[in-house]
Amino acid sequence: MEKARIAVLVSGGGTNLQALLDAERRGELRSGEITLVISNKAEAYALTRAGNAGVKTATVVRGDYPSQEAFEGRIIELLEKNRTDLIILAGFMCILSADFTSRYPGRIINVHPSLIPSFCGRGFYGLKVHRAALDYGVKVTGATVHFVNEVPDGGEIILQRAVEVREGDTPETLQRRVMEEAEWVILPAAAELVCAEILRKKHKGEKI
Ligand code: GAR
Repeated sequence: MEKARIAVLVSGGGTNLQALLDAERRGELRSGEITLVISNKAEAYALTRAGNAGVKTATVVRGDYPSQEAFEGRIIELLEKNRTDLIILAGFMCILSADFTSRYPGRIINVHPSLIPSFCGRGFYGLKVHRAALDYGVKVTGATVHFVNEVPDGGEIILQRAVEVREGDTPETLQRRVMEEAEWVILPAAAELVCAEILRKKHKGEKI
């Protein structure tokens, strides 16, 4: 069966990448295959996870390029060479330019560790999101998978899942619960939904 070709962009530990790799292995992600992992950090453990799964990797570091355009140009080159259908941002800690995102409408998705529109946008990433949720005192938080457009965390929502905040939570304990109960569940599920839609469009000869 033909599958959508997925490139995953990462920066760190790569637990969301692992959830995608596991879902593919279990046959839950069946309309897509992870064919490339790109990291903007050479030391990202996500690269080891990709290597262990036999997935091709590349490292593209912003500081090695004279401009954001040149940095993104290298990423685009790798994506094109890979014949990428879907780009998944899984803990990718860079904001991509409108030039980049407008090249791939409906073909970039991101996982964000809150219920958008709370605690999202520029400056809200990683543990900062959970710290902000605890400081505000919300009793429920969660995760969101959404399409990526030119507005940081502003694209159409695909899936969300709520997670309760518990008495005594720290940013670290809350992050872990949000990952386990929400991110690792909805990211593979959303990837399957979008890959199936991309394949449907390809078969009908529609523009993807
Ligand atoms: C995840 O919690 C992800 O939602 C978040 O960074 C973490 C990456 O973990 N992403 C953002 O905050 C993006 N705005 P991982 O490398 O273990 O998947």
